[in-house]
Amino acid sequence: MERILLSQEQLDEIVADLAGEIAADFAGAAPLQLLGLLKGCQPFLADLSRALSRYSLPLAVDYLKARSYVGTASSGRVEITALTAVADLALGDVVVIDDIFDTGLTLKQVVSHLKEQGAGRVKTCVLLRKEGCSRVAIEPDYVGAVIPNEFVVGYGLDYNEQYRELPFIKVLE
Ligand code: IMP
Ligand code: MG
Repeated sequence: MERILLSQEQLDEIVADLAGEIAADFAGAAPLQLLGLLKGCQPFLADLSRALSRYSLPLAVDYLKARSYVGTASSGRVEITALTAVADLALGDVVVIDDIFDTGLTLKQVVSHLKEQGAGRVKTCVLLRKEGCSRVAIEPDYVGAVIPNEFVVGYGLDYNEQYRELPFIKVLE
C-alpha cells in the first residue's frame, strides 16, 4: 500500500499559498531572483514561478547545484557543485528554493555561499520541512508544509535518483 503524504491537489494548494505569501512580501521590490537548488527543486520551482506570474512581479530564475544526501541519510557534508550564470546577486532580493529542509545544512551552506558572493538580501523557501531534525540555527522563511520525520519521494524528491517524476509525495517504504 502506497502512503501518499501530499496529493497533487494538496501540492497545488500549498504552492499557490506560498506564491501569495512571497508576492505580498516582495510587491514593488526590484526583480526577485528565484534561485533553485538542483535537482530536487525542479517541479516545485516550475509550479511556484507559474503561480507567481499571477502577481506580475518581475522574476528571474537561476540554479545552484547542492548535494548532501547519499541514499536515505544526510552525509553531513554539502557540495555546492555548479553555479550557473547567476544574475547580479547584489541587486534585488534572492529567494533560495529547495524541496525539503531536513538537517538544514544545505540551506545554511548555500546562504553563506551566496553572502560570500556578495548577495544582498537572501530569503529561503522550502516545500517541506521535516519535523525535529534541524541541526542548524536557521529556519526557512517560507515553508509549504511540515511533515513527520520520514523519508519521502516524488515531486522532485528522489531516492538514489528515482521517483522524482511522481506528481505527488509519498513515503518511501
Ligand atoms: P538538509 O541539508 O539535511 O536540510 O537536506 C536537504 C536535502 O536533503 C534536500 O535538498 C534533499 O535533497 C535531501 N533530502 C532530505 N530529506 C529527504 C527526503 O525525505 N527525501 C528525499 N530527499 C531528502
Ligand atoms: Mg536535493
